[in-house]
Order: sequence, then structure tokens, then C-alpha cells
Amino acid sequence: MGNKVIFITGSNGEMGRYLIEALNKEGSKNIIALDLEQKNNILNTKFIQGSILDTQLLDDINEKYEISEIYHLAAILSTKAENNPQLANDVNINGTKNIFELGQKQAIKQKKNILFFFPSSIAVYNLEENNNSKIKEEDYCSNPLTEYGKAKLICEDIGKRLDTTKTTFGIDFRAIRFPGIISATTLPTGGTSDYAPEMIHAAAQNKSYKCFVMNNRKLPFIVMPDAIDAIFKIMKISKKKLLKSAYNITSFSPSVEEFYNKTKEYFQNFNMTYSIDSKRQKIIDSWPSYVNDSAAQNDWGWKSKYDLSESYASYIVPHIKNKYNMEE
Ligand code: SER
Repeated sequence: MGNKVIFITGSNGEMGRYLIEALNKEGSKNIIALDLEQKNNILNTKFIQGSILDTQLLDDINEKYEISEIYHLAAILSTKAENNPQLANDVNINGTKNIFELGQKQAIKQKKNILFFFPSSIAVYNLEENNNSKIKEEDYCSNPLTEYGKAKLICEDIGKRLDTTKTTFGIDFRAIRFPGIISATTLPTGGTSDYAPEMIHAAAQNKSYKCFVMNNRKLPFIVMPDAIDAIFKIMKISKKKLLKSAYNITSFSPSVEEFYNKTKEYFQNFNMTYSIDSKRQKIIDSWPSYVNDSAAQNDWGWKSKYDLSESYASYIVPHIKNKYNMEE
């Protein structure tokens, strides 16, 4: 591996694993991946074990490599962050500042702009009351309920401020506010939108599921291939087209019960009961049921490939059956 690389933090996470695979498929061979533990060897990737809070390690990486793009995926998700606010803010805010600094150092070292991808979240929104309109990027995002949402909003602002690409070399900051994400091959850890993937993975393993959120609640979701496609699209588009620094994207917004019914179409024996977790329910109630992604559609051509039915039929069910070795 040469010293010109793509740098990915949180490489063991759901998105990290999928992104590395997709970058590999696209022919990006020089990837360095940072995470706390080495889980499995990934092709064409040099794994570095360590923390985004270790500034000495980041200095060493800065010295050794020429980074062209940064995907800063390491984060502590919303439920876990509420339970461990100090750790979460350290990782989600201070860790992100460290990676911004690495990007800035690289820009100076290489005398060029460094593409910087930041996954933000619907957690930046806080709707005071149930609102079924499609929320735009400017709406309801001055006071996120969760530590996680606050950290995402703070880092969006810092990233926007540090993006000096109009005047001098620096970080070319691009962010997507993701809805809940469903992967057929992995499960998230510590999120609040986890009920949907947890339900589907339970069904595929012939297990029952105790759902922690009320049956009528709706959140926006997408499946992982669409999430990765969106990252590729926003990273490739000319900066001139990007009128915002952080964009909504979405695909479908079923209620919990609609998820259940859809899951049951494919896994007839599936059984779900409810045990509402009031803290997690409150978080979900503060997030929008629908987001408006027309800015992403207009500025960089975002369009989801999978609606709810298509997600189950062409992505979730075939892959999840494969994962758990079930026959078609
Ligand atoms: N899916 C995340 C969570 O539930 C929100 O971005 O924490």
C-alpha cells in the first residue's frame, strides 16, 4: 500500500464495513481504517487499532500518509450516548474535532482540499409536538433533545466553519443527516431507531421481539445500500453544486406496526410484543416522522432506489436469509 490513502474512522461499525466493501468494489484500494478493535481483515485495507481521542496516533497518521478523503464515521449513537454522556461527548465532539484537525493538517501538508464526509442524523431535530409535515434542514434544529443530536449539530457547525475551500486549502466538508438505517447483514449498537433492524433480524432468526416503541410511531428510514450510494454521490459532486453543508435524505416512513406487518409477510411465524421504554420513546417522539430531501435531490441528484416493499423484496429478505442460512 502506498502512502496516498482514504481514511475511515469507525471502520468496524455498520456503515464502516459496508462503505469499505463498496469502496473496494469501486476500485479504491488504499484504505486505512481506524477503530478500537480489529474485528476482521478487510481486503485492501490497513487496519489501525486505536482511538480518535489519541492525538499522538493521529499525528503519526498525519506524518505517514497523504490522505485524500476522510470518512469520519466513529460515533456513539443516541441511546448509548444518553446513558454515557461524558464518554459520548468526548467521542462525538472532541473526537470529531481531532479528525477535523487531521484534515486541516493534511490540507496544509498537501496544499489541496481534503474531502471530509460526516454522517449527521435526524437526531439534530427536536419537534415539540407530533408533526407530520416533511421537515426541512432549517426547521426545528436549534435544540436537539439528545446528547448525540446536540453533538452532531455542534460538529456540523464546526465543519461548516472550517470549510475554507472557497478561499484557501482546507476541509471540504460534506454531511448527510441520515434517517434510521437498516442493514440486512449487521445490527446497529446503541441507537434508538434500532427497533426496526432488530425486529427484522429477530424474525429472520425465528425469534420473537419485544419492541420498545409504540406501534403507531413513524420515523424515516433507508436501507444501507441507499445510504452508501448517497455518500458516494455527495462526495463526488462538484462543490459548486452544494448549497448546503448538511442534507436530509430519506426513503420511507412506516409506522412500527407497518414494519411488523411487512416483516410478517416474509416470516409468517414472527411474533412481536411491546414493552415501551419511556426514555427511548421520548427520543423517538422528538424526531421527525418525515424529512424533506428535495435539497439533496436538486443539488446532487439524490434519489433512493428502495421504497419499503422494494427494500424487503430485493435487499433485506434475500440478504438476511443468506446471512442466517435459510432456504428460499
Ligand atoms: N440511528 C441513530 C440512532 O438511533 C440516529 O442517527 O441513534
